[in-house]
Amino acid sequence: MTTYLSIEDLARETALEESLIRFYESEYPQRLPKKILKGGVLFFDGLAVDAFKQVHQLHGTNAALSEKATPALQKGYARVLAVTSGKGGVGKTNIALNLAIEFQRLGKMVLVVDADLGMANIHLLAGIHPEHNLKDIITAGLKVSEIIVEGPEGIGIVPGGAGVLALADSTPVERVRMLAALEDMELAADIVIVDTGAGMSTGVRDFLLSADEILFVLTPDITSLADAYGLLKALHHENYGGPVYSVVNMVTTLQQSADVALRFSGCVRQFLGREVVNVGYILKDATVGAATVNRTPFSVYDKEARVSKNVRNLAASLLQKDMPELKLNSAFKRYMNLIKR
Ligand SMILES: Nc1ncnc2c1ncn2[C@@H]1O[C@H](COP(=O)(O)OP(=O)(O)O)[C@@H](O)[C@H]1O
Ligand SMILES: [Mg+2]
Repeated sequence: MTTYLSIEDLARETALEESLIRFYESEYPQRLPKKILKGGVLFFDGLAVDAFKQVHQLHGTNAALSEKATPALQKGYARVLAVTSGKGGVGKTNIALNLAIEFQRLGKMVLVVDADLGMANIHLLAGIHPEHNLKDIITAGLKVSEIIVEGPEGIGIVPGGAGVLALADSTPVERVRMLAALEDMELAADIVIVDTGAGMSTGVRDFLLSADEILFVLTPDITSLADAYGLLKALHHENYGGPVYSVVNMVTTLQQSADVALRFSGCVRQFLGREVVNVGYILKDATVGAATVNRTPFSVYDKEARVSKNVRNLAASLLQKDMPELKLNSAFKRYMNLIKR
């Protein structure tokens, strides 16, 4: 539904002075949504609230840094990529972590959020010892910057614990606090990768519906395909609108990877009428286990291992997928709105 906001409405929603709103309108027209004409009057689109807040922040940053503003600061919200699967044990956590490292090596600022309710274990694979998790934002009033732990290659690791997807039971005040923290996170990073765990619970599914993009981890195991299909079907019926990607993990040959990807996309196209784009494969390789024993992500443990190269290719092909240059809405806000129902 379209929302029509007058300048007074917008001023109230953004907490910006009307004069400042007019100034930003003339100064940053390309960063703001077009106004809508209704009954001979021009209104602001509902999207303008976030857009003006963004521009306000950008302007503040530019002013503070004068001409030295880096491109990374002139950005909107991060791409929020959810890594999921129908069933557990398919390699989501390994892929989320190593993909984050490869994105970071490609010059992106990456945060990886451990949001697996059952088995939060990114920190184990990354060899870090987080003291806090997202829940402490609510319970101890911490800022998100206080719970992010620096991981390999400078990625940020956000220990989720049961904090992030268990918000359905929280009070409105707690949610506002959490949302502010999650939005900060989205504004700070270029890419936020969320290890969601298997998509069996409604908490995970609600989050997936809000993500910008979903990466399904498949394996040659036939039940992994059936469960992945079941999950995507549920998301499809809830009108998930973003792109769906697949990566096939633990393959022994290229042919096998192609077979699995095609079987999944074929089924989805036939029964749900939507496209799944395969973005890569990862071989079954003993390096993964060896790296785990060493509490080191495999792409750091052995950068030239086949699996590491596979993830590098995966990162490159995901970066080639079009995303709007300046993303003006927050995936976590969509999620909060969804669970408020
Ligand atoms: N490409 C691979 N080759 C060999 N073993 C793998 C590979 N990917 C994952 N594994 C192993 O499979 C198990 C599950 O991986 P994990 O990333 O924890 O999956 P999930 O997060 O989906 O439960 C781990 O023991 C991991 O070492
Ligand atoms: Mg996992």
